[in-house]
Amino acid sequence: MSVSRIAILISGRGSNMGTLLQACERGELPAQVCLVLSNRADAEGLDNARRAGIATACIAHGDYPDREAFDAALVRRLQQAQPDLVMLAGFMRILTPVFITPFAGRLLNIHPSLLPNYPGLHTHQRALDAGDSEAGSTVHFVTPELDGGPPVLQARVPILPGDTADSLARRVVALEHEIYPLAALWYLQGRLTLNQQGAFLDGQKIPPSGVPYRPQDAVRHDAADRSNQQRPC
Ligand code: GAR
Repeated sequence: MSVSRIAILISGRGSNMGTLLQACERGELPAQVCLVLSNRADAEGLDNARRAGIATACIAHGDYPDREAFDAALVRRLQQAQPDLVMLAGFMRILTPVFITPFAGRLLNIHPSLLPNYPGLHTHQRALDAGDSEAGSTVHFVTPELDGGPPVLQARVPILPGDTADSLARRVVALEHEIYPLAALWYLQGRLTLNQQGAFLDGQKIPPSGVPYRPQDAVRHDAADRSNQQRPC
């Protein structure tokens, strides 16, 4: 498999970005990260990417008169990097068709809820307030509908007695570090596609809540080891 190019958009900590970088460095993903792009100059993840020798850029949304002008600037910078796949990883801006259309079908997002539940912000608190028994995260193709594009892969965690939004977020993000590289691998292997009918994996239509994540499918060797330990003899 030839080496593909992934561009990653972040707004903050960038732990999902870090996991994708590591997966590329370890050869678990047949790809290189060609650009990490942020709308915030102080995003912690930008420094980490720079230290890892990755090309970075900051395009501050406040410098543009409206969302469309900002999105057009993002597109121009991304097109210079010639990505095969664009991954939103904690990128906290609503994107318009100006951005989404040029990358349609090769644009993924990770969202910290069991979509279609809780699009938008404060997902963990909303799950707690609703008395849900489970939370999780969903990788989905991006379409103009906010957090509404076809789901690809979904991981669940139980909500435990005494959970807070923070404790839940910590458990969810740990699983995000497994599912986002896996969805990227499926895409890079040509197994994951989007068409007018929805998202497909190996030619099979993906169900409305995404493929349920199985730890034994993890890209990360240590995650796979963990799942082996959990499997009964
Ligand atoms: C992740 O939990 C991601 O799902 C969420 O932001 C966090 C970023 O963490 N994304 C959204 O809420 C997008 N709507 P990270 O910066 O450590 O990867």
